[in-house]
Amino acid sequence: MKHLLEIDDLSKAELLEILELSRVASPPKVLTDVSVGLVFEKPSLRTRNSCEAAVFQLGGLPVSMVSGEVGIDKRESAEDVARTLASYHRYIGARVFAHSTLTRMVSAVDKLGSDVGIVNLLSDASHPCQALADLATIQTHFGFHPGLKIAYIGDSNNVIRSLSLGCLMLGLKVSIASPEGYWFEELERERLKSMGAVEFYVDPAEAVMGADVVYTDVWTSMGQERERDRRLSDFSGFTVDSNLMAEAGSNAIVMHCLPAHEGEEISRDVLESSASVVWEQARNRMHVMRGLFLFMSGVRPRS
Ligand code: CP
Ligand code: NVA
Repeated sequence: MKHLLEIDDLSKAELLEILELSRVASPPKVLTDVSVGLVFEKPSLRTRNSCEAAVFQLGGLPVSMVSGEVGIDKRESAEDVARTLASYHRYIGARVFAHSTLTRMVSAVDKLGSDVGIVNLLSDASHPCQALADLATIQTHFGFHPGLKIAYIGDSNNVIRSLSLGCLMLGLKVSIASPEGYWFEELERERLKSMGAVEFYVDPAEAVMGADVVYTDVWTSMGQERERDRRLSDFSGFTVDSNLMAEAGSNAIVMHCLPAHEGEEISRDVLESSASVVWEQARNRMHVMRGLFLFMSGVRPRS
């Protein structure tokens, strides 16, 4: 695996290895004397901070750039941005609007014959680094035993696409409740179904029945702000609150990639309940970034 654009760029064995490497307490400083370029077309709190901290912990220098100062496809093309960053950095992380921006960056870097790896830090289609942190969190609480059920309530978006793929690769059960019109396309639903046990619902209560994990994300993702009013009305009834949690398994945990919009996709009491593991998830963003860069470096800690 040279680039990570989506979680299924990894094999199951590679995915499990990254999770294991994420738990190495004193990893080798595999980024000593090298830098990692992190470019953000959209805002970020967790992703930027977790990446920068992880790179630093591995001995490297993170160089972060935010939207206006780079101007992907405005000041210069995505290809030229990628080729330029590849001249300086060992890895490039990019948070972009269109997923195609990432694939263009990958093509441009590969055409150079460069060994620079590109990591997706969120696109409109996927958020694989978030999925790694989510899986690390699920693993801590339950392990990956077959039959473990992850219920997602909300928009069928980048976050649940990556998480579903990861869960299905690991043999976990996924149920997704979205209002009509907010489901994955049929082709995509079929692809997910071909990978394992996944079910789609319009009724959140049905989806969470007996779930071990109840997950939600914002109704309006970055870039969709103009649809906010319509989405607020279309998602009415999809709030993860204590009534909905009562339908889940008695030991169910609550997950959210954050930022949370209190009173929309999640109620404050659920976010702050003892079932909520959202801060652990946020912390795991840093651990899995360390695991990912360690994995990509090819260096393995001595056992
Ligand atoms: N969960 C997540 O990616 O958070 P940020 O948008 O703050 O990076
Ligand atoms: N689905 C959200 C995730 C934020 C981390 C978005 O794309 O804005």
